[in-house]
Amino acid sequence: AKLLVLHGPNLNLLGVREPDIYGRETLADINSQLAQRAQGAGHELAWYQSNAEHELIGRIHQARDERIAYILINPGAFTHTSVALRDALAAVAIPFTEVHMSNVHAREPFRRHSYLSDLAVGVICGFGSDSYRLALDAAIAKLEPKPA
Ligand code: DQA
Repeated sequence: AKLLVLHGPNLNLLGVREPDIYGRETLADINSQLAQRAQGAGHELAWYQSNAEHELIGRIHQARDERIAYILINPGAFTHTSVALRDALAAVAIPFTEVHMSNVHAREPFRRHSYLSDLAVGVICGFGSDSYRLALDAAIAKLEPKPA
């Protein structure tokens, strides 16, 4: 199946940005590891990063035309602000997992609320770049047909 990883604002700065919180791996490192892992499991993984809300929304709409089966999304700060991103995910009705590298519940209070979590299949946060890997493994398990 086809999976899509979406990264929201400031995630292009991974590796440089607040490394104590977000680690030293770059977005390119993370994306290539995910693509390899997906491929090893017989799936195809595309990725996209944008700092602009409307571009992320456009990419979500496009995902429906491309028959993307599953989305992993780290919405960055849009998690806490964007009704529009929520509406886009609801509109395409593609199952998705919300991913955060940091434990958003252990930080400032405004990070505890997400506009997406109740629509998500699940939420993974707090494991650094492993959050993405864990989310991918869970998505793959969901996509694989259950043994009869
Ligand atoms: C983040 C957490 C958000 O609160 C923050 O705005 C980010 C990154 C994370 O991956 O931990 O940009 O989504």
